[in-house]
Amino acid sequence: MKPAGTYYVETWGCQMNELDAEKMSGALERRGYVRAGRAEDADVVLLNTCSIREKAEEKVYSELGRLVPLKRSRPDVVLAVTGCVAQREGDRVFARAPHVDLVIGTRATGSLPVLVERLRAGDEQARHTSDTELRDDSIHFPFEEIRREGLAGKAYVTVIEGCNHRCTFCVVPTTRGREISRGLDDVLQEVRSLAERGVVEVELLGQTVNAYRDPEGRDLADLLAAASGVDGVRRVRFTTSHPAQMTERLLDAMAASERVCPYLHLPVQSGSTAVLRDMRRGYDRDAYLARVRSLRARIPDVSLGTDVIVGFPTETEDDFRATLDLLAEVEFDTVYSFTYSERPGTAAAEHRDAVPAPVKNERLGRLHEAQRAIQERRHRRFVGRTVEVLVEGPSKRDPEQWTGRTPEARIVNFAGASAPGRLEMLEITQSTAFSLKGEVASPRA
Ligand code: SAH
Ligand code: F3S
Repeated sequence: MKPAGTYYVETWGCQMNELDAEKMSGALERRGYVRAGRAEDADVVLLNTCSIREKAEEKVYSELGRLVPLKRSRPDVVLAVTGCVAQREGDRVFARAPHVDLVIGTRATGSLPVLVERLRAGDEQARHTSDTELRDDSIHFPFEEIRREGLAGKAYVTVIEGCNHRCTFCVVPTTRGREISRGLDDVLQEVRSLAERGVVEVELLGQTVNAYRDPEGRDLADLLAAASGVDGVRRVRFTTSHPAQMTERLLDAMAASERVCPYLHLPVQSGSTAVLRDMRRGYDRDAYLARVRSLRARIPDVSLGTDVIVGFPTETEDDFRATLDLLAEVEFDTVYSFTYSERPGTAAAEHRDAVPAPVKNERLGRLHEAQRAIQERRHRRFVGRTVEVLVEGPSKRDPEQWTGRTPEARIVNFAGASAPGRLEMLEITQSTAFSLKGEVASPRA
């Protein structure tokens, strides 16, 4: 059968976006489209975009600029902008980039194939359609149709979409809408079908995954228990959790199953109670630290990751020091840190972006330096231990080496015969701030 056409998709941003790209790809393939390796070879080009910080959004417009000649030489190519920039900008994308044909929001992905077909059939009415209605297309996407292309042995599973918080710096509530959870049985069916296909690690996804509550009232604790009981599943992760919704019940569920990975990503954003209040995070410094203590009381060796924003408009030098001090007190294993980026339409954008860029960058540099020393020290605890690693593929730095992750999400590099998707037992021989080095202890199926 002759393919209906070719498509190319470029995606930016979080795991949720990666999964959305896999869904849209699957929907097009079900209609007979095949994947092209470059935009230049495709009949349909999708840019699945991120708008979390200004830089992410700039990348989209520069990529759109790069596609002008392609669209000029082949006007019949369908160029669609999807994802968070599409949701936030809507019709405004056409004003800035008139060569774009379609703008499809984060929850309107169901209309993509239909609009693509109409355009390709010559229906000019469909040109410059923007669909940004916040429907449930994505959460109810039939999981069998997802084009899985992540790592061997591992898959993402959406359990909740959207965010009901209103952090003053963040566009996500606008770009992803209100929270909507999937039914627990539907999630479990997907996990079972993945396990049957050899997936050993599932990562449950949501902007605020611990707000999960299905129509029958079952929460993330129930879901962790159920998913970790599925035959063949060896590891369950979940991301991202909101500190204010980290219940004792959920901590108990983490501790109760060996298969729930001992890793928690718990974005703190700032160590200063005043800044947390201005961010409208819904917890203060002490409440955050109390959650960490509860978690460590149950799982003493748990690994912790966090996100930090430096240079929020009201952040003083003392506030920033409070953040450094919190990092020293908690000793996170991983910190994703960002300089504050003013986003149009957010409450924080009403303050002047008060911290000058050089000050933000200087603070970020100090944070990196301090955290690097903490991680270096902290990762030494793995040396001499035997750990289980899920192999991801050849190491980027040294193709002679494999790279994989421990249940704590630590990267381990090692040499020897292996393959992506395999679980290996490794003895850790060295550590740095960012990765571990291991040797095969005993091969395992
Ligand atoms: N709940 C989601 C939040 C998504 S945004 C999750 O944690 O995945 C991811 C991180 O980006 C946030 O935790 C925050 O640290 C950072 N971020 C969000 N908005 C930002 C902004 N305007 N400027 C800088 N960093 C931001
Ligand atoms: Fe953004 Fe805060 Fe929600 S960071 S995703 S508004 S919890």
